[in-house]
Amino acid sequence: MKKIYVKTYGCQMNVYDSDRMLEILSKEGFEETKDLKESDAVLLNTCHIREKAAEKLYSDIGRVKKISEKQSKKKKTLIVSGCVAQAEGKEIIKRSPFVDLVVGPQSYHKLPNLMQSLKSEKRIVETDFPIESKFDHLINQKNKIRKSSAFLTIQEGCDKFCTFCVVPYTRGAEYSRPVNDIIDEAKLLIDSGVKEITLLGQNVNAYHGIDTSGKIYSLGELLYKLAKLTGLKRLRYTTNHPRDVDDAMISAHKDLDILMPYLHLPIQSGSNKILKLMNRGHTTNDYLKIIEKIRNVRPDIAISSDFIIGFPNEEENDFYDTYKLIESVQYSQAYSFAYSARPGTPAANMDNQLSKKIKMERLHKVQELIWSQQRLFNSTMVGKTIEILADRLGKDQKQIIGKSPYLQSVHFDGPKEYVGKIMNVKIISSNTNSLAGEAI
Ligand code: SAH
Ligand code: SF4
Ligand code: F3S
Repeated sequence: MKKIYVKTYGCQMNVYDSDRMLEILSKEGFEETKDLKESDAVLLNTCHIREKAAEKLYSDIGRVKKISEKQSKKKKTLIVSGCVAQAEGKEIIKRSPFVDLVVGPQSYHKLPNLMQSLKSEKRIVETDFPIESKFDHLINQKNKIRKSSAFLTIQEGCDKFCTFCVVPYTRGAEYSRPVNDIIDEAKLLIDSGVKEITLLGQNVNAYHGIDTSGKIYSLGELLYKLAKLTGLKRLRYTTNHPRDVDDAMISAHKDLDILMPYLHLPIQSGSNKILKLMNRGHTTNDYLKIIEKIRNVRPDIAISSDFIIGFPNEEENDFYDTYKLIESVQYSQAYSFAYSARPGTPAANMDNQLSKKIKMERLHKVQELIWSQQRLFNSTMVGKTIEILADRLGKDQKQIIGKSPYLQSVHFDGPKEYVGKIMNVKIISSNTNSLAGEAI
């Protein structure tokens, strides 16, 4: 067996893609190694969402090159995939002579052929958006032992073109997988030990897949169908767009016990002026109404969001609107990022770009607020007994790390046999990012 080292950057969809690429490459005689030094090939599955993400790629290419040159062994085959590959394919090849193959997120099902071609051609860039769907060519290995929690991509790509975002360019047009393919994949995951499935999509709630009878399913309808699968204990989905929230999605949170009480619903800014410049297609009011509706059917639901701080033209009062919105929603957790101008996106050419200093000052203020909300939310769990999915072993082998229904990390002691089980854990203490408790 040849050995391949994989590094995954960016979002959960990249995690899903890396697994699929490993499965494809296993048919080509590769097995994964966690040791870069002993690898014959290296796969860097990249992210293009913010500036720093792409910089990391080039520094990692340098690192792989250094290690490879130190070893007298044959040169490692270096593959770059993912969203930087899609956006900067030819540039990568020019800038980094060490890279052998560049493959985009919609064409990695061609990896076996591409690896063959590498033997005769020198270097390859494959970043077309093929007409066929990669999903029709992927394999999900049977009889593989999996972790208790798995991702399942049901929707990919985006047609919304928010003015700051590269995703519509790197992932292409919106596409929903057929219902039956999703059910088959979910069954296979459950059969191999998966208890919790997180449905993935760039806009997962824009899902509109077809079943064998020709009926179109919304995300909500798909959730009802998946909830019937025997053996599945928990269901999640991410990430959502406010414009695509519908009644079926909301009522699923009322009706389905298996659907975890967690909603990641990014708003990006609390200023209507900025939302308009972002081309989000909704107002803060639309957003707050959704939160109200969902809290009506599921009062304990944990809400999270993404925020972009320092978008072009953001003034003090716009920033303050974002701050106030966060205060009024009370998030269980949230992600915030300083705006990063991405080449080729409309916002990168807008006037009134903000200085790094202002962006960072505002970002720190928002982060303080978000962290205080996280601490508060986590502290409300202390004293309660909660069902925790024991995910994996902690550093110290007696410790288990699990997940609460609200997506909090929970640490507790116990034998390794607990891993994969859903346990009752009494929460003893909490901090900004996790809870600690005792199994009972
Ligand atoms: N489809 C999702 C977002 C995917 S990108 C949605 O519509 O919400 C994940 C997050 O990265 C975004 O929610 C946004 O907060 C952040 N992001 C995207 N582009 C960015 C940029 N140019 N600068 C800073 N943050 C960005
Ligand atoms: Fe990007 Fe907007 Fe599409 Fe989300 S909805 S992926 S932020 S363009
Ligand atoms: Fe990054 Fe591409 Fe995901 S840009 S966030 S890896 S869709």
